[in-house]
Amino acid sequence: MAESVITRGLQNTVPHEIVTQLLAHMRAGTTHTVDTVMHLDSDIFVDPQIAKLERERVFGVAPIVAALGSELANPFDFITKRLPRNEAIIARLGDGSVRAFINQCRHRGATLIGDEAGHCRAFSCQYHGWSYDIGGQLRNITFGDSFGAVNRATLGLVELPAEERHGFIWIIDNPAATIDVAEYLGPETDAALASYRIDQMHLYRGRAFDEPVNWKIMHDAFLDGYHIKFAHPNSANRVVHTNVAVVEDHGRHARFASPRKSLDAWLEKDPEPGEPMAEHVMLTHFLGPNNTLLQLADNYQLLSFYPITDNPAESRMEMRLIVPRLEDSGETEEAWTMKWEKNWHILQMVLAEEDFPILRGIQHAYGSASRSGTVLGRNEVLNQAFHREVAALRDR
Ligand code: FES
Ligand SMILES: [Fe+2]
Repeated sequence: MAESVITRGLQNTVPHEIVTQLLAHMRAGTTHTVDTVMHLDSDIFVDPQIAKLERERVFGVAPIVAALGSELANPFDFITKRLPRNEAIIARLGDGSVRAFINQCRHRGATLIGDEAGHCRAFSCQYHGWSYDIGGQLRNITFGDSFGAVNRATLGLVELPAEERHGFIWIIDNPAATIDVAEYLGPETDAALASYRIDQMHLYRGRAFDEPVNWKIMHDAFLDGYHIKFAHPNSANRVVHTNVAVVEDHGRHARFASPRKSLDAWLEKDPEPGEPMAEHVMLTHFLGPNNTLLQLADNYQLLSFYPITDNPAESRMEMRLIVPRLEDSGETEEAWTMKWEKNWHILQMVLAEEDFPILRGIQHAYGSASRSGTVLGRNEVLNQAFHREVAALRDR
């Protein structure tokens, strides 16, 4: 068992043609480009009306990753979660399925669950004691005679469409929507995520950051291989090349490959097909509209970005580090913990000390009355795809 997963870690494969294309760019001093530059109106970062539209038309329509399945490992586990439009409860039922509900009592609107996570078969409201089963059905109205012949079936928790797929729990933050994650992902992205087997890995750590920055400015920084050596000269720049990428644009989603500096060892001669190359190439999946999944040699990092109010200068970023389980790693607990703790620490440090100050400064500067818009170069392929896809939902 351990053997197969260790091998699988190394198999975190990178398609051979991506590697050869990256090497060709490195030899020529080029990168993947599109035909035109893109201009963005600065209002998309500062206008509350546009922020409101995005919450309705982007986050009321698109399935987003709300959690990892392993955050609800067992039947009757639940978590609560602030989504872009609603406060939600996500629960695993006795049959193993996952459902999501608005975290609000149907009587007089109390927040039903204050805890971030827990395990129970029923939710009981602390205000007047109404209770609901884990599937959201209203179970008991206290002093029920006072309510006469109410139809309990109409007073269950309001449900959000949810689906567990590829180790992620996807939710559309709109009770009126219908969810079909495979259709939303499309064949290329669905197949890639299926091959990652995230459902067999361990969520080492997760953390949310509330930043005074528009969610799109936040996300843009993680779709960008152009800023590495300028913003991260002594961290990421030591291991990743700047402004060299291969992008596969699949419409709503895209895959972006960037070479680590260790790929320089193949500058003279391409590797043979089948040679394990995941250590030398970082794959970034843009999962539109608001998630980025990084595939590294033996771990994944999931980054999610979303607004939580109609204030355009307020957003939440979530970061999750997903690693091989201890029992699959072949490592001692001490070595495993030390390795991932160090990794987690570095990730947070780079974000907090290097990216966030720049991103706060962007939002601050967009507060200027005579601000200018944004221009995205032909090399900023993933950023162009991101803004194209958000606009396609928002401006329809
Ligand atoms: S608000 Fe929940 S029981 Fe009254
Ligand atoms: Fe960065």
